[in-house]
Amino acid sequence: MDARVTAHAHYSIGEIDKRLYGSFLEHLGRAVYTGIYEPGHPSAHPNGMRQDVIELVRQLDTPICRYPGGNFVSAYNWEDGIGPKAERPTRLDLAWRTSESNEVGIHEFAEWAEAAGTEMMLAVNLGSRGLDAARNFVEYVNHPGGSYWSDLRRKNGRAEPWDVKLWCLGNEMDGPWQVGHKSAAEYGHLANETAKALRAFDDKLELVVCGSSHSEMPTYPQWEATVLEETYEQIDYISLHMYFENYEKKTAEYLALPQKLDRYIGTVGGVIDFIKAKKRSKRDVKISFDEWNVWYHERKSDARRMKEWDWPHAPVLLEDIYNFEDVLQVGCILNTFIRRSDLVRIACIAQLVNVIAPIMTEPGGGAWRQTIYHPLQLASHYGRGTALNLDVDCQSYTSDIAGSVPYLDVSGVHDAEAGWLTFFAVNRHGQEHMDVELSVERFGTIKAIEHTLIKHDDLEARNTKDNPENVKPQQVGGTASLEQNRVGVTVPPYSYSMIRIK
Ligand code: AHR
Repeated sequence: MDARVTAHAHYSIGEIDKRLYGSFLEHLGRAVYTGIYEPGHPSAHPNGMRQDVIELVRQLDTPICRYPGGNFVSAYNWEDGIGPKAERPTRLDLAWRTSESNEVGIHEFAEWAEAAGTEMMLAVNLGSRGLDAARNFVEYVNHPGGSYWSDLRRKNGRAEPWDVKLWCLGNEMDGPWQVGHKSAAEYGHLANETAKALRAFDDKLELVVCGSSHSEMPTYPQWEATVLEETYEQIDYISLHMYFENYEKKTAEYLALPQKLDRYIGTVGGVIDFIKAKKRSKRDVKISFDEWNVWYHERKSDARRMKEWDWPHAPVLLEDIYNFEDVLQVGCILNTFIRRSDLVRIACIAQLVNVIAPIMTEPGGGAWRQTIYHPLQLASHYGRGTALNLDVDCQSYTSDIAGSVPYLDVSGVHDAEAGWLTFFAVNRHGQEHMDVELSVERFGTIKAIEHTLIKHDDLEARNTKDNPENVKPQQVGGTASLEQNRVGVTVPPYSYSMIRIK
């Protein structure tokens, strides 16, 4: 099968915000405890943080990390996580029916984030709590000193404010499962008043209001319209979430799901435009896609186990083991974000360690990369710069999700500073090789090409503790032909490629 892709220097989508490659850590399962934090682990620092995990996070180069939830945040008292550890209370976490020791709180997470080379994106609790707890938390985190909360932070060992810019106003407040779930009007009012209070403290904060938990929610997309109607002038981003499933083991349908993601983004973009016009506003609101990933491998059995257990601390929970098929899916999701990067400025893979995560750990043992780590790392490293508006010509297939799904899913990024053009390409055809002709117009003469391939003959292939490199990227030689402004690359069936041209 043939495909033709043309990139033109004058046809771009816009500058990619590096926070498109963000991540998320929730107090959930083993994400924090025995994930990033495990005192006594051979690689642990004196503060209990695992250096082996920090190293893998640093290699991922994730610019922001959302914390502390997730559903967890909607019944969380941030004050439980400050002060001497021995005096911190153990609480019941209503979201996941577990116990929370509070050994890790904002100070520990901030230290970890600095070591891991990522910035904090913090969420406030607008479920069981409200404006007052939110403003106190922001004051504790961001005020230099001379006030009750900032002086308490200083007393607790941190003199300098952390100066966190990006704040989420609650989590998935449209979901009936959420502690303190609200109607769109109730939530919109609370979010707006909270945003006003936070802006009274610091007008430069970037605030994220909750959109829909997924596009099958009965309230979608009216939720977005009502919430934006209430909050438009006070907020910067509306958050969207989506998880990808393949319960039926139908690869073609599974790999068509990013078409649904694309529609979801486009629809919410339309709602933003509608409210902006209705309000005669000059303000631009963008999308923070702050939870996305594949999540289905362990989902049903986790739901059963949770019902039965007796409030364990840091149990195995949501530990999906990803396969090669999920690499293709994650590649297509990231491509969608790049193509929609004019609207989607922030995106966070959910989550980062152990819980539906690219990084896994064994308590007392090693840490390794899941299969999906690799497309994320490649996009995070090489998907920075200007997103290109590609012209793509290839055959499509029909699916239940979308009438026409191109076999080649591709995005392109130009890093003007380094002079590289990078294409991320997924061949969604299961049997046929694809000969891809890449033409680049007005970028100058091509001198070099690199082709990185992730391919496995078994869609179910996984990376495990004992076989951590089963699925990983490889440099390919010999498949590329090169002319002045054109290269030809052959990509195998069901494969992920990164093609770089200089
Ligand atoms: O990431 C797991 C959970 O998924 C989060 O806690 C919640 O926000 C979403 O439903």
